[in-house]
Amino acid sequence: MKKMKLKELESCLQQVDVFEEPKLLLEQYPTRPHIAACMLYTIHNSFDDIENKLVADLGCGCGVLSVGAAMLEAGFCVGFDIDEDALEICKRNMDEFELKNIDVVQCDVCSLESDSVSKRFDTVIMNPPFGTKHNKGMDMQFLKTAFHMARTAVYSLHKTSTREHILKKAKDWNVKMEIIAELRYDLPASYKFHKKKSVDIEVDFIRFSMK
Ligand SMILES: C[S@@+](CC[C@H](N)C(=O)[O-])C[C@H]1O[C@@H](n2cnc3c(N)ncnc32)[C@H](O)[C@@H]1O
Repeated sequence: MKKMKLKELESCLQQVDVFEEPKLLLEQYPTRPHIAACMLYTIHNSFDDIENKLVADLGCGCGVLSVGAAMLEAGFCVGFDIDEDALEICKRNMDEFELKNIDVVQCDVCSLESDSVSKRFDTVIMNPPFGTKHNKGMDMQFLKTAFHMARTAVYSLHKTSTREHILKKAKDWNVKMEIIAELRYDLPASYKFHKKKSVDIEVDFIRFSMK
């Protein structure tokens, strides 16, 4: 089958519906189509970690990463999220694109540590909550679960300011860490008193490989 181009992927992902009433405490902001497309394209083309692979998307929200992975011909992609409203939108997106190689599970990612998911996925992809909304440490909880589930690699976004801490944790957990790209990420301003609509923060796109 003909390989999908980056522009083509990005323009499909622009049609993915996003959160209607984002929940602040769950850090519900969607990955922008341009960033999502670049992430997935790199995972697919540079590392061959999507096509025919079993992929998990932790904190899938409305599914921009899952939908993109399914379009790049993941063997199967499972999106996990705690929020049923987000998952409803995610299912709508799956239906609109007529994707059959994708499904969702409603659960708290932090309690997904049972044997039933241990090393069950080739690849884990995620844009986790950064742990900035009274949920400190949530980014690390997501990583811990991702390492538990992945056989080959985990791809994730993290605030650059946490890089040293993550490096140390990756070492403790015996996981190899590679910064693939440094991004400027526009986070929607979350409080009424914020004057700007969004704030730019520095974010690392990281690949972790299981040793
Ligand atoms: C930054 S958003 C990313 C959404 C989506 N993956 C994307 O890239 O557009 C983080 C997502 O994590 C979900 N989430 C937050 N805490 C969670 C938890 N404990 N378990 C599962 N999902 C959670 C939120 O509902 C939200 O959809």
